[in-house]
Amino acid sequence: MLNKILFQRFPNLKSWLTRLQYEYVSTLVKDKGAVFMNFGYTAHHQGAETLELHPDDEYHRYPLQLYHHVAKHVEWKNVEALEVSSGRGGGAHFIMRYFKPKSYIGVDFSERAIQFCREHHQLDGLHFQHGNAEDLKFADNTFDVVVNVEASLYYPNIEKFFKHVKRVLKPNGYFLYTDLRYAEKINEWHSQLKQIGWKVIKEEEITENVLKALEVDREQRIRLIKTYVPKILHRLFYEFIGLSPNAPAKDKPHLDNRRYWYFVLQKV
Ligand SMILES: C[S@@+](CC[C@H](N)C(=O)[O-])C[C@H]1O[C@@H](n2cnc3c(N)ncnc32)[C@H](O)[C@@H]1O
Repeated sequence: MLNKILFQRFPNLKSWLTRLQYEYVSTLVKDKGAVFMNFGYTAHHQGAETLELHPDDEYHRYPLQLYHHVAKHVEWKNVEALEVSSGRGGGAHFIMRYFKPKSYIGVDFSERAIQFCREHHQLDGLHFQHGNAEDLKFADNTFDVVVNVEASLYYPNIEKFFKHVKRVLKPNGYFLYTDLRYAEKINEWHSQLKQIGWKVIKEEEITENVLKALEVDREQRIRLIKTYVPKILHRLFYEFIGLSPNAPAKDKPHLDNRRYWYFVLQKV
């Protein structure tokens, strides 16, 4: 509660703490055990077919499925793509291998995450560079697709980000976007997004799918925390992944009254 009030009053404090937090994650995890940092997605319980994955990707199934769900609606052939807030690069690496765009640039403001991606995700056409979502250093009309997954909640000025996305997209280019917000902020968030002027190709609330993914991935996430995070910080990291540290296995994860949405938008 206190942090919600503080962050509303001092939005740059949130951004600064976020940077610190993600730099720290890359200090803790030096290997490829955690190349994704999102809550994940599944529609299996709703009868969806199981996504076929390479055996090496099985370990990351749920966070990877969030990328798949966002990316599957557009044509990727010959596409020049940008991902803003690519984190530790698991999503960028997955999209390059499964959807095969011509090129893909991942941008993040964590220097250590970018360093990690350059060392661990080497594919032709895949590049990573340091940058800020609210000040994208690319020319107008550069990309066919812009991807953004579970990151814009950290940006102090979301409208700046949306304007940059529209600016750097080519005409008819796509913005593939997913994130979560507190229930009372959803309407404001949606109108900030729509105000920019897009053709809405798809929009869908996926909170239940994300919660289900957290539930089925629970044990693996707990193992990850136990492997990489010092014990004194366990409680904090359990909160990050929507779990109460001492809850029995049957306890359901929660998103603290936040709702998760995804959008496919086209620049018109
Ligand atoms: C929850 S992680 C998600 C990372 C990745 N999209 C994924 O799903 O694995 C959020 C990411 O946003 C990045 N980030 C936060 N604020 C940013 C900003 N203003 N500009 C660029 N990246 C930012 C963080 O460094 C972090 O890597």
